[in-house]
Amino acid sequence: MSEKTSKDMQKYFQAPSLKDAKVRRHSEVQVLKDEFIIPEEMLQAGNNKKFYIRTYGCQMNEHDEEVMAGILEAMGYTRTDETNEADVILLNTCAVRENAEDKVFGKLGELKHLKLNNPEVILGVCGCMSQEEAVVNRILTKHQHVDIIFGTHNIHRLPQILHNAYMSKEMVVEVWSKEGDIIENLPKTRNDNIRGWINITYGCDKFCTYCIIPYTRGKERSRLPEDVLAEVQELADRGYQEITLLGQNVNSYGSDLGDGSYTFASLLADVQKINIPRVRFSTSHPWQFTDEMIQVLSNGGNLMPHVHLPVQAGSNHILKLMRRQYSGESYRELYGKLRNQIPNVSITTDIIVGFPNETDEQFQETMALVNDCQFDGAFTFLYSPRDGTPAARMNDNIPLDVKKARLQELNQKVNADSLAHNQGYIGQELDVLVVGRSQKGENTYAGYTPQSKAINFIGDDSYIGKIVKVRVTEARTWSMQGELVEA
Ligand code: SAH
Ligand code: SF4
Ligand code: F3S
Repeated sequence: MSEKTSKDMQKYFQAPSLKDAKVRRHSEVQVLKDEFIIPEEMLQAGNNKKFYIRTYGCQMNEHDEEVMAGILEAMGYTRTDETNEADVILLNTCAVRENAEDKVFGKLGELKHLKLNNPEVILGVCGCMSQEEAVVNRILTKHQHVDIIFGTHNIHRLPQILHNAYMSKEMVVEVWSKEGDIIENLPKTRNDNIRGWINITYGCDKFCTYCIIPYTRGKERSRLPEDVLAEVQELADRGYQEITLLGQNVNSYGSDLGDGSYTFASLLADVQKINIPRVRFSTSHPWQFTDEMIQVLSNGGNLMPHVHLPVQAGSNHILKLMRRQYSGESYRELYGKLRNQIPNVSITTDIIVGFPNETDEQFQETMALVNDCQFDGAFTFLYSPRDGTPAARMNDNIPLDVKKARLQELNQKVNADSLAHNQGYIGQELDVLVVGRSQKGENTYAGYTPQSKAINFIGDDSYIGKIVKVRVTEARTWSMQGELVEA
């Protein structure tokens, strides 16, 4: 970090440390109801100004964008989708794989000329990449046109950080490596008025050996049940049709609250009583998926029959190296229980190909598991080493072209299974939540079945935001076609 010694001296400089981010403290996390404040001098700061936010990564990040938009609008800024109209540009980044990071560095390069033409623009980098030392160092040395860097734990300080940026000629860096508390009074401007995200936990304590998220999102913290339930009720009252409860591992919700007796199953049972038509949750770790959770889900109601259950690999040896805490056998057992006990459930997964030194035999164990499970869908990824994680220090002798060939073999199989599941719905009448117009054709509308299957049909704008019956006429790998039965 020699180039930035002079920056170290500057007033607004707090850079991340992966070492500190790894520490898990026993100190209680506080729930703060009035921590977010806009300083007097920033209350009108955004009048006649516009902001642009580009989000990469997962649903957690998409929801963080809604919070940032809410904060900026509270200061008077209005939104634009054009970078060249914007006074504040934020790149809300994802660190999970190298290609996610490459996209952001590409975008930063693109924005350089804009910043040169208009030095008044504030260009900010936030989200998970900001929590990484190497990324912050690279920005400090190669992307000096960036004005602010802030992380995932201090989004609520956006007004103060912007204020510092307006006052300072140097890059303002404010990244906390210790996770923050839970801040409940954040404004949110939701991007959708049909489906809404609701955080239930922040952070992750699982430390799967390949994954950067425990470092970028900090210790696992659960929101209080009453705060979650109040938010569900608020969205129900506002006419939302669907909510998704968000956490890196929703199963362990509540383990850090009181005596731990209020669990994710308890939360699901309480949300089931609220008059919102559809409830989803993401993501469930196969470890800690309790029988109580299966029991509540099998009662249905507004709890939608879809479980995203990332398996990552089929080989016990690789699963152990990944520190996933289950085996191929116990995964299959859980999978069978979900299929048997939750009526019409769909089950999707995530799989990583090419973990360090994964042999062909071990990869074939993944293929065998996929063959046994016949997933409704799968997100498949090439393993990407992440700086600071244990897997990144493992020696890896598998050539990239071998990994790519395996990925292709796996993709063919998961795509065929996904098509077969969709074909199984042909002729059935399904409840479809219509989310908007589809790009697929004129008068075509897009919606989702309870199992989270995408379906398109011919309709009109009046159906948007409603749950309608659609008969499936045609199946494709990623979506289905259907015709409206009744409104
Ligand atoms: N909390 C979620 C995962 C979030 S990340 C869970 O545990 O299910 C989403 C997916 O990205 C993971 O399930 C994994 O398949 C993939 N992933 C994470 N780190 C990765 C890495 N270093 N290389 C490739 N894929 C990775
Ligand atoms: Fe990453 Fe594992 Fe935590 Fe998921 S459970 S966020 S894969 S460390
Ligand atoms: Fe990416 Fe951070 Fe989500 S690393 S996947 S945006 S938690």
